[in-house]
Amino acid sequence: MNYRHSFHAGNFADLVKHALILWLLQERQSRGPVTVLDTHAGAGLYDLSGDAVRSKEAEAGVARLMTADNRPPLIEALAKEVAAFNPKGGVRFYPGSPLLIARALNDGSHYRGFELNPPVKALLDEALKDYPKASGFEGDGYDLTRLAATKLQAPLVLIDPPFERGDDYIRSAETAAAIVKRDPKAIVAIWTPLKDMETFDGFIRRLEEAKAPCVLVAEARLRPLNNPMKMNGCTMTVVNAPSGTDAAAAEICGWVAETLGEDKARAEIWRAS
Ligand SMILES: C[S@@+](CC[C@H](N)C(=O)[O-])C[C@H]1O[C@@H](n2cnc3c(N)ncnc32)[C@H](O)[C@@H]1O
Repeated sequence: MNYRHSFHAGNFADLVKHALILWLLQERQSRGPVTVLDTHAGAGLYDLSGDAVRSKEAEAGVARLMTADNRPPLIEALAKEVAAFNPKGGVRFYPGSPLLIARALNDGSHYRGFELNPPVKALLDEALKDYPKASGFEGDGYDLTRLAATKLQAPLVLIDPPFERGDDYIRSAETAAAIVKRDPKAIVAIWTPLKDMETFDGFIRRLEEAKAPCVLVAEARLRPLNNPMKMNGCTMTVVNAPSGTDAAAAEICGWVAETLGEDKARAEIWRAS
């Protein structure tokens, strides 16, 4: 397990994922309390003065978010959260999904994050220690989330693997489809990188074969997908996408593509089923 999210924290893809999961949580909570399950929780809080300096990904992502003056509401909501972790200004710290979600929970809502890597799980515990409605668990996030979902009603699930293993696409699609098949009111959001369209099409085909309903794909492309060795963009695929997801995703992906993308950057929001 070599993946270290600290290299990537605060990049454009985190901004897409986090702005949309915050909107999905707000939308879901408007209909009552919810438990959020996060298959791959990570450390919870990232100090961008470490690995992120070398990768320069946060510099091209969250640093530009915080100085932009054209932030639409859902992007502004994320910027406000980042600012809360940097009370002296600047962007030294970036909150991951556990902390962003923990801070947005209403009364009666809960967060459970799963993390396979013990040292990262220890960081997750530290990050969540002041949030009694949020807890971290060590182990395989696909299996533990699937099990946890059987004991909940209408959970909101984030699937956010590192995609360093060949089976992450298959397991993501299978986990999402199984959860929604058992509970047609569950909402599952899956983050993926966008390198080439062939790999992503294979992932969508798996969701279709598993008969996953209401699949909305939100793509933010920073450049044309000409070089499959590069992360040219990212997607959030939402299974059982609630109404309003199209507009929310268009606002978020549109801003990211336009503000952080290169020539020919674009956002695409489409329904696969
Ligand atoms: C992309 S990061 C998660 C980032 C986090 N969701 C966020 O948005 O802040 C992926 C994390 O998954 C962990 N991981 C890898 N395989 C896992 C598995 N099978 N189950 C749970 N966690 C896993 C890695 O150690 C890493 O911390």
